[in-house]
Amino acid sequence: MKLAILSRSPKCYSSMRLQEAAQNRGHDVQVLDTIKFAIDLKRGAPDLFYRQKQIEDYDAVLPRIGASITYYGTAVVRQFQEMDVFCANTAHGINNSRDKLRSLQLLSRHHIGIPQTTFVHNKKDVLPAIERVGGAPVVIKLIEGTQGIGVLLAETVKQAEAIIELLQAQKQNVLIQKFVAESKGRDIRAFVVGDRVVAAMRRVAQGQEFRSNVHRGGIAEPVELPQEYIDTAVRATQIMGLQVAGVDMLEGKTGPQIMEVNSSPGLEGIETCTGLDVAGAVIEYIAAQVDFPEIDVRQRLTVSKGYGVSEIYIPEGSRFVGRTIQETRLYEHDINVLTLYRGNKVIPNPKPQRELEPNDKLLCFGKLEAMRGMVPAKTRRRRQPDIASLPEDAVSVADVESVD
Ligand SMILES: Nc1ncnc2c1ncn2[C@@H]1O[C@H](COP(=O)(O)OP(=O)(O)O)[C@@H](O)[C@H]1O
Ligand SMILES: [Mg+2]
Repeated sequence: MKLAILSRSPKCYSSMRLQEAAQNRGHDVQVLDTIKFAIDLKRGAPDLFYRQKQIEDYDAVLPRIGASITYYGTAVVRQFQEMDVFCANTAHGINNSRDKLRSLQLLSRHHIGIPQTTFVHNKKDVLPAIERVGGAPVVIKLIEGTQGIGVLLAETVKQAEAIIELLQAQKQNVLIQKFVAESKGRDIRAFVVGDRVVAAMRRVAQGQEFRSNVHRGGIAEPVELPQEYIDTAVRATQIMGLQVAGVDMLEGKTGPQIMEVNSSPGLEGIETCTGLDVAGAVIEYIAAQVDFPEIDVRQRLTVSKGYGVSEIYIPEGSRFVGRTIQETRLYEHDINVLTLYRGNKVIPNPKPQRELEPNDKLLCFGKLEAMRGMVPAKTRRRRQPDIASLPEDAVSVADVESVD
């Protein structure tokens, strides 16, 4: 395959290793500087130039977009996507993960451990917010920090208030987060490729420091992850819309607590620590996907007018409870069940004979109007005329437009 690695630093460890891994496997690979692209737009023909030359036919792109050029970098990735080039991470996924608030918002509705977090604007709301996450000591975070810069631990409520006031006066948005003390300055980095964790390490903060980032002096050790940590890392990556990611988790009392998902995870620390060929795993994954790429369903489905994806919630007491998917006869209303969510379980393509339980959620594809008919009156602006013919008690949570 012909692969472009988008990176501002061709000589850094990660770029060199990825390039080498691709070459060793017989691929044609180039590291291209993300900001040297020009994006051309005209009717029916999205185009890209690299150093004033029209780019050739690439089969795949591996974006390594640094935080300082997120806007430009994701614009270039999006252009490749629109030109039907397979991108190992999409612009949408990169944008989701870059913002700590946005990523926690996306994760929060799923059964995935995250440290309790609040986001407030008004001074009056600060104190109650700190109390809600368990009081001091409390973690305060900038939304787009990296390498531990922008993460603080306030020992007292007074300190926390002062720090927040100062940061907000500097027009910074801050998150207030529960301090997961039992993690004891340690965190887990899981390197996810597709639906697998290909390597994992534990980073341990040194001395008085509570941040375990390698840039803050944290020391890495290889770790054998329990299944729960593997599942959590893979699901978080999928929820973000990423395929290659570094997932950072605290080891909480109740299991893994995700702090962030990195869309351009570094290779040096994890390869040195584990001795594993992470670069090779990334390249092999991309080569396999190029032959059989996954499609961004949301983008393609909206093209078929009137059809889309929606979630149907089965509340306690619903007459769907105890029925099989076949017996719900959703398919007669032009609705197909793609996935069943049950607690923290995800069941893709559930069998028609599967019986439904209270609090199940069905991810469906079908006629939006029919699914909209399932929203109860109080959450719907106006009733659809065909409501009578539809199951009354199923609740549609969101259609494709509003799912991020
Ligand atoms: N809520 C928390 N409780 C305990 N430790 C935390 C918490 N949040 C962050 N940390 C520590 O601080 C480090 C940096 O936080 P993180 O959110 O990953 O920011 P960055 O993007 O700067 O790496 C983490 O690796 C972890 O060791
Ligand atoms: Mg981190």
